[in-house]
Amino acid sequence: MTKKGIILAGGNGTRLHPATRAMSKQLMPVHDKPMIYYPLCTLMQSGIRDILLISTPRDLPQFRQLLGDGIQWGLQISYAEQPTPRGLADAFIVGRSFIGNDNVAMVLGDNLYYGHGLHAVLHTAAQKPSGATVFAYRVSNPERYGVIVYNANNMPEDILEKPQNPPSRWAVTGLYFYDNHVVDIAKDLKPSQRNEIEITDINRIYLKQKQMDIVNLGRGYAWLDAGTHETLADATNFVRIIEQRQNIKIGCVEEIALAMKYINADQVLKIASETGMTPYADYLRDLVVSTPT
Ligand code: TTP
Repeated sequence: MTKKGIILAGGNGTRLHPATRAMSKQLMPVHDKPMIYYPLCTLMQSGIRDILLISTPRDLPQFRQLLGDGIQWGLQISYAEQPTPRGLADAFIVGRSFIGNDNVAMVLGDNLYYGHGLHAVLHTAAQKPSGATVFAYRVSNPERYGVIVYNANNMPEDILEKPQNPPSRWAVTGLYFYDNHVVDIAKDLKPSQRNEIEITDINRIYLKQKQMDIVNLGRGYAWLDAGTHETLADATNFVRIIEQRQNIKIGCVEEIALAMKYINADQVLKIASETGMTPYADYLRDLVVSTPT
């Protein structure tokens, strides 16, 4: 059972320079809300309320200003510094005391997940008592990701980090559920050639020990990472199109908090009144009218 989650929201964001020269990538808007709202919602939908946000010493104060202690959404949000971007696996070293003896989920601060039934998929991963779960997605540019190697029986047998000649199109996405062993595994990792401690090395260990579930997110799901100008624009367009067409919101923290019963209607209305005369606040007010309490 996983009740703790980490959002990894540091990094250099070099591919978005100059836009990210003075501010965090994960605070930039994806359509009508900050990027960080989307991965936050993913953890919340998994039933996780105890959350550690890891970012750079430069950017942490702004995250604190935006998210606070999380109590307004029925969450407990704490913060930790990652002084240099040592790699994704560093989350479990920086987050060691937060994790304690528990299982933990980790989501990248620039990853957006969307699709019918996602809630159930996340719930299943969070309920698992031991081992690991990751999510794979079919992409057109697998060489940018950790890529799954399948054997003759179509079973995953290895994961290769950013391979020049990808063995498949299935990439490991930026959401990971691990049991408590991850803390010790991360501690012993050696940096790769690009001088990062790699999450792929953690995943390979779980896979080799047959402790890894790889859940394929098929046609019914969207997975976007907003790390380049193109993918940031794609993410904005995706969210804008769905939101306008269906008059719903993707990544609305208050909506998820209400649906998960982390907060009640009065708390949503309070946030709406603090959000001013904006379409976002109007949406929150409509939510309360249309959601039975
Ligand atoms: P990346 O997109 O791989 O790295 P980046 O954000 O620094 O961007 P760029 O490659 O353009 O320089 O990182 C994926 C996510 O993980 C992103 O949300 C930043 C975060 N991250 C950390 O917080 N710490 C790290 O050490 C690394 C490598 C990434």
